[in-house]
Amino acid sequence: MADPYYITTAISYPNGAPHIGHAYEAVAADAMARFRRAQGRDVFFMTGTDEHGLKMAQAARDKGMEPAELAAEMSSMFKVMCDNLQVSYDRFIRTTDPDHKAAVQHMWKKMEERGDLYLGRYEGWYSVRDEAYYDEDELTEGEGGQKLSPQGTPVEWTVEESWFFKLSAYGDRLLAHIEANPDFIQPESRRNEVVRFLEGGLKDLSVSRTSFDWGVPVPGSNNHVMYVWLDALTNYVTGVGYPDGGENWDRYWPCDVHLVGKDIVRFHAVYWPAFLMSAGVELPRQIYGHGHLLAPGGVKMSKSLGNVVDPQLMLDRYGVEAFRYYLLREVKMSSDGSVSEEGLVTRVNAELANSFGNLVQRSLSMVHKNLDGILPAAGSADQDKALLEAVRKACEEELPNAFETFGFTAGIEAWLGAVYACNAYIDAEAPWTLKKTDPDRMADVLGTLVATIAPLTKAVAPIVPGASERILALLATGEGGNPIDKPTPAFPRLELASEESAA
Ligand code: ME8
Ligand code: MG
Repeated sequence: MADPYYITTAISYPNGAPHIGHAYEAVAADAMARFRRAQGRDVFFMTGTDEHGLKMAQAARDKGMEPAELAAEMSSMFKVMCDNLQVSYDRFIRTTDPDHKAAVQHMWKKMEERGDLYLGRYEGWYSVRDEAYYDEDELTEGEGGQKLSPQGTPVEWTVEESWFFKLSAYGDRLLAHIEANPDFIQPESRRNEVVRFLEGGLKDLSVSRTSFDWGVPVPGSNNHVMYVWLDALTNYVTGVGYPDGGENWDRYWPCDVHLVGKDIVRFHAVYWPAFLMSAGVELPRQIYGHGHLLAPGGVKMSKSLGNVVDPQLMLDRYGVEAFRYYLLREVKMSSDGSVSEEGLVTRVNAELANSFGNLVQRSLSMVHKNLDGILPAAGSADQDKALLEAVRKACEEELPNAFETFGFTAGIEAWLGAVYACNAYIDAEAPWTLKKTDPDRMADVLGTLVATIAPLTKAVAPIVPGASERILALLATGEGGNPIDKPTPAFPRLELASEESAA
């Protein structure tokens, strides 16, 4: 049986419509899932929605809806977004799914059995937007003296009876684990942040709420609902069969990677492993904390600034291939970076339409026109071999080595280098002039080009799966000495949709 590989995204808060950050994370995880499947791994890929908690309850109240109603409506928008982005998840989990409630309550009981839960009283600064308490010394002051969390969200002084988790007992074990497993938190900048946080010492964590009831009830304490992060993080084990076990559990846990944004690394790299240690469950192999997409000029995207990009609008305007390519091509996963519609159009036209698309279209059109569509064999002149070697190296070594560690931009750059080399080869060999002077050489040149198309297409398939499939299907029509179908451009040239949206 193939080597299993389990990858997850964060589960999104469905308190509003999905934004481009959600699309980015889903597409990145999908590209990794597809990359692993192409390597022959047996992949389980999970994404979904995080539906409980005060933030959801408040959003529902503001809209005059029941939380369950809002959650159902918005969750389906996230699912549709994933489907439209060709995100190949194996399960779309909702924290309101019945198996999840059972898993969270089981987790709770295990933590209680360990002696890690106790009843106390909480007073502290709570951010509803982050669903997290913060220490006084982490806060900053905003307009009108409003205290703000390190994420810039408002915090309120909150007092309530609460169950606590003995997080303070886990600091040394967590540090030891991080030290012994250098890949546990990636990239390194994120690991360093977590280590600094742990070295500052951990306080016990409030893990239940009594002020609202939109959550999973605490077993034996029915006026308490579980802290939404304990509930949400547990989705990763629910999805593969916790606590019953079974085939998926045996195959896929421990998870290979939780792909999450940098703002929630602390929850995944501190709280989650501590909960798992307490419950006696193996830890995931890696937390990868990606950067954030920013508006032009490095400005944070936010609803109040009105600069949030709607992923569905991008899909409608430019299509799924262009949008996926731009997201993963433009910004390194390990850092933040700005995106814009203008940038998307420029990149996609230069790299997909004019470079890769044009290579495929020019080469196969010449075969179709001049060789009755019969795919010729590659040439064996030095320049032919050199080109095939450059393509092989980019597609079999450089791109996969970069993709291994979420280096999509670097992998695509190596791949583009090979694409540019192919286009330079076409210009240098000028096969269209050879038709009359040296038809054999023309066939060799076209054959060499044809031999570059399949590897280049397969290499980039995790990024642009639909177009890759169409190119490979076209090539397949030429198998067994049959003439290929008439080629049509795989990547149409884009036009910027509107002046204002270019920003
Ligand atoms: O945090 N660029 O949900 P969420 C890139 N429910 N990624 C971004 C982004 C941006 N501008 N904005 C947000 C939650 N994200 C919790 C997770 S997991 C057990 C619970 C990313 O809807 C963000 O970093 O606020 C996170 O990884 C994901 O989108 C969901 O964010
Ligand atoms: Mg968020």
